[in-house]
Amino acid sequence: MMQPNSHYNDLKEDYLFRMIAAKTADFMKEHPQKKLLRMGIGDVSLPLPPSVIRALHEAVSDQADPLRFHGYMPECGADFLREAIAAHYGKRGILIHPSEVFVSSGASDELGDLQDLFAPVNAALVMEPAYPAYADACVIAGRKILHLPSSWENGFLPVPDDRLEADMVYLCSPNNPTGAVFTKELLRDWVEWANRRGAVILFDAAYEAFITDEDLPRSIFEIDGAKTCAIEICSLSKTAGFTGTRLGYTVIPEALLRQGMSLNRMWVRNRTTKTNGISYILQKGGAAVFTEEGQREIRENIAVYQKNAAVLSEALEIVGIRFTGGKNAPYIWMNCPDRMKSWDFFDLLLREIQVVGTPGAGFGEAGEGCFRFSTFGSPVDTEEAAKRLFGLLCGIREGMVRL
Ligand code: MLT
Repeated sequence: MMQPNSHYNDLKEDYLFRMIAAKTADFMKEHPQKKLLRMGIGDVSLPLPPSVIRALHEAVSDQADPLRFHGYMPECGADFLREAIAAHYGKRGILIHPSEVFVSSGASDELGDLQDLFAPVNAALVMEPAYPAYADACVIAGRKILHLPSSWENGFLPVPDDRLEADMVYLCSPNNPTGAVFTKELLRDWVEWANRRGAVILFDAAYEAFITDEDLPRSIFEIDGAKTCAIEICSLSKTAGFTGTRLGYTVIPEALLRQGMSLNRMWVRNRTTKTNGISYILQKGGAAVFTEEGQREIRENIAVYQKNAAVLSEALEIVGIRFTGGKNAPYIWMNCPDRMKSWDFFDLLLREIQVVGTPGAGFGEAGEGCFRFSTFGSPVDTEEAAKRLFGLLCGIREGMVRL
């Protein structure tokens, strides 16, 4: 008889963002006339940049022309895109060879798939609060998880410790959900820890494009020694509006070896078996992101989300709620008022002002008592949400709102 993977029993019953969607849908069924403002899942509201759309159209036409048609694509990514991404790193002084770049269907897919590189016996350290897919992917793989909580006390940026007996660690900066960003010094501590232990860092850099402060690292490969201990996972979802289009990339340095095995070679072997490459059309669209024009256009879109962050931050500042993020990051992470539990605050927001956010508890125990807002909504919705939130928080402070 087939034995199912019983580790699925160890997962929470439902995935965070599906729970939010289900609760929201139930509410809307009962109150169809209400105008809902969605600031929960980090899904972008702006369309793809014009240069990307143009490249996608051209690639579709190529597929109609016998002379320009493309069949299977190289499993690890088209040369033109791997070269464009390596050159993009090069512009920031980071030397990455195109063979170290793997084109993927997105960061979340990749974060799970990369588990194939690690024997089940390896324990994973997860800095928390954390994007729930890290822990879920480890649970499905039957891996031991060590939870590393962070809090307001350390600015949600945990420091490594030689007592942490982990073989791999998930780090995310700018962080989802807290918006906290590692400094070079802190990241260096993690790189040194990993090299000392022979551990591997899975560095989720999906939000790097939101860093505006020149001193903050946008890639772990800005840190000396990272090439012998880190894999960087990136996405065009938030950077360039690819949430519905799906495209990302992963950097696995040639220098990353464990017990004589090259993780880069292993990943080539994995991809050649498990994928037939990402579609030509998408990769052409992705390559447009790395042109001068594409970069200018994505900066314009990111500026819109940064303005949203400023609008929401201002409302919280005036009302005196403690929060992080919103600067160098597209998420705002706030304390729930009156020591409320995060799902209770979620219900209150939905019921009273029809604003959807993400309860901190969904990002692990360390997130309880906090709440996340995404700044990827439309400016009109964000302004309206900020106004409603401000009114509600003032009402709570004055004892006018039933909690
Ligand atoms: C989030 O809201 O945390 C992200 O949008 C989810 C994702 O990228 O899958």
